[in-house]
Order: sequence, then structure tokens, then C-alpha cells
Amino acid sequence: MGTADHRDSNAKTLLTPAIEAKNISHSFGAVQALVSANISVSAGEVKAIVGDNGAGKSTLLKVLSGLVIPDKGEIFIDGKSISFSSPVDALKSGIQTVYQDLALIDTMSATQNVFVGREQLSSNWILGKLGVVNDRHMHQEAIKALSDLGIKIPSLNATVRSMSGGQRQCLAIARAMLFGHKVIILDEPTAALGVHESAQVLSVVDQLRSKGLAILIVSHNMQHVFKITDSITVMRLGASVASRKTNETSPEEIVGLITGAISG
Ligand SMILES: Nc1ncnc2c1ncn2[C@@H]1O[C@H](COP(=O)(O)OP(=O)(O)O)[C@@H](O)[C@H]1O
Ligand SMILES: [Mg+2]
Repeated sequence: MGTADHRDSNAKTLLTPAIEAKNISHSFGAVQALVSANISVSAGEVKAIVGDNGAGKSTLLKVLSGLVIPDKGEIFIDGKSISFSSPVDALKSGIQTVYQDLALIDTMSATQNVFVGREQLSSNWILGKLGVVNDRHMHQEAIKALSDLGIKIPSLNATVRSMSGGQRQCLAIARAMLFGHKVIILDEPTAALGVHESAQVLSVVDQLRSKGLAILIVSHNMQHVFKITDSITVMRLGASVASRKTNETSPEEIVGLITGAISG
């Protein structure tokens, strides 16, 4: 039946992750940071990676963003095997990562920060569209990206030094959104933020999901994890020990999986 076929093909699309890493192992000298870890996230899905300090969360994110080349394992984008030899390869595949330190440049304006580093991304759609990038275009694109996400910044021309932590985080996410057309990776985006600023960042994540992006987010905040995510992967001692749909688990079960009191 036509309807069933349609449903089947939809289901198949949903089942193919935007990005998937399988059996990833990696050591830093004597420290085995990742032990056959698995992770995947699909378009329109927000997935949390949780685990104790040292569980391997950041290293796994770095593998997905081309910063760490793993000793073993495979990465797939839309089901196709791919290998990254540098962060530029991941960027070109539409994967953008927002690290905890944000890497915003204090002495530059919000607009300049959104577009800094674009030289590496000459194949990016936005540059193709703009042709020669000039300040006015950059400014307009930055304003559009920020207003699309409902981010209010006092002045796009002021240096980011004058911005709050939440505004800086949102700016870094907006930048990731402009250049990342497939996967956005956020390493502890609310760790340094207050309640109000965290809410702003969570709302931006929600909007990225509704734009069909796949989002991976590392967070220690169980309240945020349960509020924002569709699914959760628990890491322990370098391995991915369990994955749950958020609406089929509880903070108690997740904490048990993190500590090892419950086995995955
Ligand atoms: N660049 C590095 N050099 C040496 N050891 C590292 C490096 N990065 C991470 N590690 C080690 O790998 C393990 C996993 O770290 P990490 O991925 O940062 O964990 P998490 O983000 O879950 O706290 C830890 O034991 C950490 O000390
Ligand atoms: Mg970390």
C-alpha cells in the first residue's frame, strides 16, 4: 500500500543517523580515553552524552569534530563511511562544535566573531551565495542568524568583551548554526551560566532541533538534560554503556548508569 510504503521510507530516513561513530577506541599514551564507544544522532534529534569526569565525553566529541583522529573505529555521515583528517574536514561535512571556552575573540564585534575563520570554509553555501563577502553582508547575515534564534545582543558592533556569558554562548551557537548545516555539537553549553542565561541557550537548542539539525550536547545538569533532549547516551570509563529515550528513563536511572550502580 502506498501509505505504508511512505511510512516505511520515512522510518528509514529517521533511522539513518546524521552522524554515527562506531567502535571508537583511542588512547592518550597510557590512558585509554575511549573503549569501543558508540554514538549516533539523527536529524531533528537532541541527544545528551552524560558521564562522570574523565568518562571520555569530550574526547568522543573531538573525534566527531576531526580534532582527535581515533586509533580505531568508523564514522558515518548519512550512513556513508567517512574519515576526518582535520577539523576542516568535519566543518566541510556540516559538523560544527561549540567548545566550552567558546573561542570568541574578545576584541572583535559580535558580527566579526560570527564570520571569523570563514576563509577555511570556502565551499560553504553561505559564501557561495554571497560571492565576495563584505562587511555589510556579514553584518546582515549575522543579524538574521541571531534574530532567527531570538537572540538579543545589545549591539552587534560592540566587542564581545562587554557581553554576558549567556549572550556569548548564544553567539557561539549562532555562529555554529550559520556554518553547520547538519550537526551541532555542544560541550557543556550551560556549565558556566545562570538560570536565565541557561534558559536562553536551551531555547536556542530547541530552535536548532526544529530546523532539522542533529544536536549532541554534553551536560552535567540532569534538569537541563531531561528538559531538552530526546535521548541520552551514558558513558563510563571510555565506553558508551547505555542509551535511553529521555521519556522512557528517569534521572535516577541515568545517575545509576553513570556511577555504575546500574549496569547498562
Ligand atoms: N589531550 C589529552 N592528553 C592526555 N590525556 C587526555 C587528553 N584528553 C583527555 N585525556 C584523558 O582521557 C580521559 C577522558 O577525558 P575526557 O574525554 O576529557 O573526559 P570527559 O569529557 O568525560 O570528562 C581522561 O582520563 C583524560 O584525562
Ligand atoms: Mg569534558
